[in-house]
This record gives sequence, structure tokens and C-alpha cells, in this order.
Amino acid sequence: MPRLVILANRVPNPNERGTPRAGGLAVALEDVLTPGTVWLGWSGERAEATSTTPKIIEHAGITYAAIDLGEADYRAFYLGFSNGSLWPLLHLMPGLTTYNRGDYAGYRAVNRAFAEVLAALLAPDDFVWIHDYQMLTAAAELRAMGIQNRIGFFLHIPFAPPEILKILPPAKELLAALLACDVIGFQTETDRAEFLACIRAMLGIAPTTDGIVTLDGHTTQTVVTPIGIDAENFSRLAGRAVRRAETKRMMESLAGRALMIGVDRLDYTKGLPARFEAFSRFLATYPQHRRKLSFLQIAAPSRNEVGHYQDLRNELDHRTGAINGAYSDFDWTPLRYMTRTVSRTAIAGLYHMARIGLVTPLRDGMNLVAKEYVAAQSAADPGVLILSSFAGAAHALTEALVVNPFDVDAVAEAIHQALTMPDDERIARHAALAAKVQASTAAAYCTSFMSFLAPGAEGF
Ligand code: G6P
Repeated sequence: MPRLVILANRVPNPNERGTPRAGGLAVALEDVLTPGTVWLGWSGERAEATSTTPKIIEHAGITYAAIDLGEADYRAFYLGFSNGSLWPLLHLMPGLTTYNRGDYAGYRAVNRAFAEVLAALLAPDDFVWIHDYQMLTAAAELRAMGIQNRIGFFLHIPFAPPEILKILPPAKELLAALLACDVIGFQTETDRAEFLACIRAMLGIAPTTDGIVTLDGHTTQTVVTPIGIDAENFSRLAGRAVRRAETKRMMESLAGRALMIGVDRLDYTKGLPARFEAFSRFLATYPQHRRKLSFLQIAAPSRNEVGHYQDLRNELDHRTGAINGAYSDFDWTPLRYMTRTVSRTAIAGLYHMARIGLVTPLRDGMNLVAKEYVAAQSAADPGVLILSSFAGAAHALTEALVVNPFDVDAVAEAIHQALTMPDDERIARHAALAAKVQASTAAAYCTSFMSFLAPGAEGF
């Protein structure tokens, strides 16, 4: 019986349930996490050297295999090339992109190490599914070791146009390495088109009209399989969360005011400084709403050791102080800003009570917060989603108030529009969004990607 073998930088630890380590991906892949599946990734631990003997945890028939990263590899692979070069560049932020050859060598070495461990776990008819920008060269390493299994890769973040990708010195090598895969999946048609444009411009290969690329006799199919959430389950979670003590505490603290919510990793791609600026502009431009709306921004710390993330944190601390200093009243704090992780259940409850969900990344692969916010609303009295046109989610969720997050006046206007929207419009927009979120689920994502990776195979 062929198995699915997953490779992703983060791997869930089934003994630490509820921790967010690979939370998002583990939820998205739930449907393929059937007995027999193997998931390999980084343990989250740093050791003297990168280990090639994985720590194995068996849980519910699934094998979780994790390796420690050596300190130097962690710096070069994770902090350096993955999050200092690829992350900003693929989010179209060349000004924040750094590059050095040593980091790239470390990135290749860590991909090779993962490939070696994976190859040792692999049976001849298994399917391999590799995830995200940290693992761009793993498939090529597997092929170099003689592995002939079907290999799929899914990119969770955006792809860049040729003129941007070219900034990265090993760009061509990375593109060629990806073509070792049989299937490459993207979140949106735009991402796939950019990838194919890079293949054309930088490798001189003409893809077929249906996105098939051939290099040295090997063909790679490119597909668009947008990731989703388990909408039904999330709605139920939100329904239950409403009865929790912390949700009630929050409700009481609002004292009848409307709540606007933002939930993000503390990442410069999420556009938080511009979002805070837009909120400030809103308070200045629409004084009639002052004291009637509280904005809660939850920002979970992330990648603290990368300099730009530290700068961002300092900037947001400063902006929060400035907004609250200027507008607070004895009994009203306009912006509540929390830099800690909050449980999924608590967040579901907060979404449910929020009149506005504010999702304004400068660039984002998909953004599941937008989908979760929609799923958490009650159909009879739903909140309004304000969504950046540069999030992958905006390709489908067109009934949101779609904004350009760089235009702070437009975002301020959208907040005003959301607060004054007639009930029938609010309900109709939500109904259309909810239907889409319920159709494009996590399960549909798995089924769709697996239909390309393992055509005709049963049980995935
Ligand atoms: C994004 C990326 C994931 C990454 C996650 C958390 O969602 O697409 O690949 O795992 O952020 O970031 P971290 O650096 O903590 O793994």
C-alpha cells in the first residue's frame, strides 16, 4: 500500500497538542493524515550539528520524524536564506532582501540532509509531498540520490515575477531544482503564471498552454490548488467559544462598543504599521465613531532573531503608544495590542463577536485568517471582512471590502463603510463569502493536490 510522505520545515509534535508549531499546516493536511502517513521536518531544536537520525514519534498510526538543526545550519538555512532572502523576495520586498553565498550553501546542505533522512524512510511506491519555500531544493537532492518516486511540491507563499526573482543570484538553479518535481502547486493563477514566466525568461523553456514544463526529458505539471480551512468545524468552534469565560470577559470589557479584530504573525508582510496608520486616520477622519469601536490586534511573535522582525516590533510598540496617547479616554482604549499567542478557541470566539475582521497584508500567499473570520460569523448577524487585494484569499473572496493596504485613506474609508453598512448588504456579502469558504476547504485542497500527485491511487 503506497504511503504519503510529507516533508515540511515544521512538523507537529502530537504530544504537544494545541501548540502552534505546525498548527496551520497540520490542520490543513488533516485529511491526508491517515494511518501509514509519514511527516518529516525540523524538531524546532538546535544542536551542535544537524542530525541525520530523526527522533520518531508514532501517533494514531502516523509517523512523525524530526531532526535537530545544527546552530550554523539554523543560522544559514532558516534565518539566512529562507527568511532573509526567499521570504522577503517572494513577497515582492526586494528592499528587505539580503543574500550571502554561505547562507545559500547552508540552505542546500540542510535540504540535502532532509532528503537523506527522507530517502531512508521511503518505500518504492510512496508519494512525496514537499511544502514551502524552505524546501525548494529537496526534490532535486532526492533525484540525485536516485529516488524515482512521484514528488509533489506546494508553495504556500506568493511567487515573484522574473525581474524580482533575478535579484537572487541562484535563481536559475532554484528553478531547475524545482523541476525535479512531478507536480508543483500554487495558491493562485497569478503565482503559477509568475513561475512560468520565470521558467520562460530565465531557463528559456516554453511551458505548454496547460502549464507543463519539460527539462531534460522530465515533465513537471504546474497546478493551482488553493488552501482552505475546515469551515464547518471552525464555525462549531466559534459557536462553543462564545460560551467561554474569556469570551464573556472580552464582551463585558467592550461595554456595548463594536469590536474590530486583526490576527497575524508579527511579520512585515502583514502590513501592521500601515494598518495602525489607517486606524489612526480613521479616528481622525471620522470622529463620530470615536469611543464606539475598539480595535484588537493580536500579533504572535515570529522569527525574533531576524533584524527586520525586531524593528517591526519596536515600531508597533511606538505606534500603539502614539494612537492610544492621542485618542484614549478614561474608559476607552482605542487600540488593544497583544504580542502573544492566543488559543485557537479563544480566537474563534473573538472573531465571532467582531463587527469587522481587518486582514490587510501587503502581500500574502493565501491568508487563512480571512477564511476563519468568515466561518466564525453568524449568518443572521455577520461581521464585515476588510481584505487586502494582495492576499491570495482576495482572488476568491470578492464580496469582502477589498482594499489596497498601501492606501491608508482607503482602509480608513472601508472601516467607516463596514460600520455603516446596511444590514441586508452585510448579510448578502457574508452569505456569498461563506459559500465560497465552505466549498474551498482544507479537505478539497488535499483531494485536489493528491489527484495530481497520485492520480488513480486510492485512499488519499
Ligand atoms: C508561513 C510560512 C510557513 C511557516 C510559517 C511560520 O505560514 O508559509 O512555511 O512555517 O509562516 O513561520 P516559521 O518561520 O515560524 O516556521
